[in-house]
Amino acid sequence: MNYKKDFPTIKDGLIYLDSGASSLKPLQVTEAIKDYYTEYGVNINRGVYSLSYLATAKYEEARQTIADFINAEFEEVIFTRGASSALNLVASSYGMDNINEGDEIIVSELEHHSSVMPWQHVAKVKKAKLVYLPLNKEGRITVENFKSVLTAKTKIVALTYVSNVMGYITPLEEIIKLAHQTGAVVSVDAAQAVPHKAVDCKTLDCDFLSFSGHKMCGPTGIGVLYGKKELLNSMPPIEFGGDMNDNVELYEATFKDSPYRFETGTMPIASVFGLQEAVLYLKSIGMEKILKHEYKLRSYAVEQLQQIAGVTIYNPNAETGIIAFNIDGVHPHDAASSFDENKVCLRAGHHCAQLVTKWLNVPATLRATFYLYNDLEDVDKFIDAVKKTVKFFKEFGS
Ligand code: ALA
Repeated sequence: MNYKKDFPTIKDGLIYLDSGASSLKPLQVTEAIKDYYTEYGVNINRGVYSLSYLATAKYEEARQTIADFINAEFEEVIFTRGASSALNLVASSYGMDNINEGDEIIVSELEHHSSVMPWQHVAKVKKAKLVYLPLNKEGRITVENFKSVLTAKTKIVALTYVSNVMGYITPLEEIIKLAHQTGAVVSVDAAQAVPHKAVDCKTLDCDFLSFSGHKMCGPTGIGVLYGKKELLNSMPPIEFGGDMNDNVELYEATFKDSPYRFETGTMPIASVFGLQEAVLYLKSIGMEKILKHEYKLRSYAVEQLQQIAGVTIYNPNAETGIIAFNIDGVHPHDAASSFDENKVCLRAGHHCAQLVTKWLNVPATLRATFYLYNDLEDVDKFIDAVKKTVKFFKEFGS
């Protein structure tokens, strides 16, 4: 795979290994954004003139493109500010409306803050119980450890599809089946899944699924909440304003059905156009091909990292392009600065998932993430930077 040419940021020897935080954007996407501002520039849904109709039609065409991409219905795709807003919407609307005292909410220590903190809040307000499923020795969510915490009191299961630190794929199909047998509703954080693997909401049978545009070659400021339409239409809006209502009286109002009841005010129209282009771009390559490519790169990298004395890898067997590691005796932030000197961009810290670093019993980790535009040469340069960093701190200390 050689897609570097589509990504203008990749120049002057830059090795970008931080796609887990945000992917780079291809020219096709930036062109689509520019196209909105130069060819349309108007609002949607409101104008009684051709240009506004055209912009509205393109906006809704984008919704259909995204629905097709995740095998959902048109009205099951809600545009949000990002995955965090989507995950918060589920908790603030469905959670606040359906969770009662004594109910149980299953989460895991692999969750991103956006996947767990909204439920901490719901649990506190509603006097419900947050239940952590025990991770296995490798730090994975398994069907067996899920079974050990599922009870008749479980009302919500909020889990990551792919951990943003460990890169493990959660066996969701079976977990969702089990959760549904007890009547629980499942909210999936798919921010690190949709950009990298084929996701089929119907096969998965999840109730809610959230993801961001900017991690999948799309723009910032746009994300998606998928929800089953009967659930969405039973949920109260959490934001009130222009275009989400039907009839407004002095003391009450009625609301449109999904998706419009959750999209109020002027939406980020340009970002929706950009996200559509990102989806078309990913589809043209093929999600299976992308995951296979990332896996090839991560396997090649892990093999070499394992030969370097003083490097600890926390997820050597993960099935996606994420490697969490540390250099013994070197703070990850110091190491990341050294990588930067070698033009290698990667992330250091707790990755907005403090529970994972606590579970690993380290203050922070380094994280390299591979995407479709990386190649074996990038891995070689990354390994070279690791060796230089190890050598530097050995000689000069941290
Ligand atoms: N959640 C993003 C990450 O994993 C920002 O880096």
